Amino acid sequence: MQIQVFDTTRQIASAVSAILLKQIREKPQSVLGFATGSSPVATYQKLIEAHENDGADFSKVTTFNLDEYCDLAQSDPHSYYSFMREQLFEKAGFDYSRVHFLTADTADHESVCRAYRAEIERCGGIDIQLLGIGRNGHIGFNEPSDRFSDGPFMVELAPSTLEANARFFETGKPPRYALTMGIGDIMAAKKILLIATGESKANAIRAMVKGDVTPQCPASVLQTHPDVTVFLDRASARLL
Ligand code: F6R
Repeated sequence: MQIQVFDTTRQIASAVSAILLKQIREKPQSVLGFATGSSPVATYQKLIEAHENDGADFSKVTTFNLDEYCDLAQSDPHSYYSFMREQLFEKAGFDYSRVHFLTADTADHESVCRAYRAEIERCGGIDIQLLGIGRNGHIGFNEPSDRFSDGPFMVELAPSTLEANARFFETGKPPRYALTMGIGDIMAAKKILLIATGESKANAIRAMVKGDVTPQCPASVLQTHPDVTVFLDRASARLL
C-alpha cells in the first residue's frame, strides 16, 4: 500500500485525475470503478476540465459504480446515479450505454447482484477502482462485520453511515438499505486509488494502514492488494 500525503484537496484531485487520464489515454476502452460521496468530487471536476479544455475522451470508457441506495429510482435526485450524472458523466461526455449501476429499486436484488458481477467479468474486470472510506472503515457500503463479503449484496447501512450521509437528504434520513459491490469485487480490481480527507477519517485511516486485517475494518483488506495508492490530506493522515 503506497501512501501519499498532500496539503490540499486540489492537489489530491490533480494527482488522482492524472492517473485516471493516463489510463484512458493508454487504453481508451478502460473499465473504471467509481465512488460517490464528497471524497472524489474534486477529482471528477478535474476530469470534466480535462474533457472540456484538453479533449480528454471518456466516450469509450466502461464504468461500474460501487453502490446504490435501495428503494430510490435512478431518477430520484438523491440516487447515486443522479449524483454521478451531475458530478461527472453528463459534463465529461461519458456514453451511458457503458455506465453500470446496481439498480437498487428492484425487489429482485439477488439477480441484480449476480448480473452485476457477471457484467464486470464480461467487460474484462476493473482496471482502476476509485474509493473513499467511511469513518467506520467501510469501502463501498461494506460495513464492519464478521466476514469479508465476496460479490455484490444488499446491506443494512451502519448507524454511523446513516448519520454521515444524512447531509445529502432534506429529511436527514437516507434509505437504510443499499446494494454494494462486495470486497471480492473491489479486490479483483487491477489498481485501487483511495481518497480520504479530514479529521473525521483519521481513525479509519490508521486502522486501514496500521491495524490488523479484519472485516471489522473492511478497508484493512487493502493491505493485501498488490496495487493500492492512498491519497490523504494532513488531517486524515494525522494518526499514521
Ligand atoms: C460511496 C461509497 C462510500 C464513500 C464513503 C466516504 O459510493 O462507496 O464508501 O466513499 O462513505 O464518503 P465521503 O467521501 O462522502 O466521506
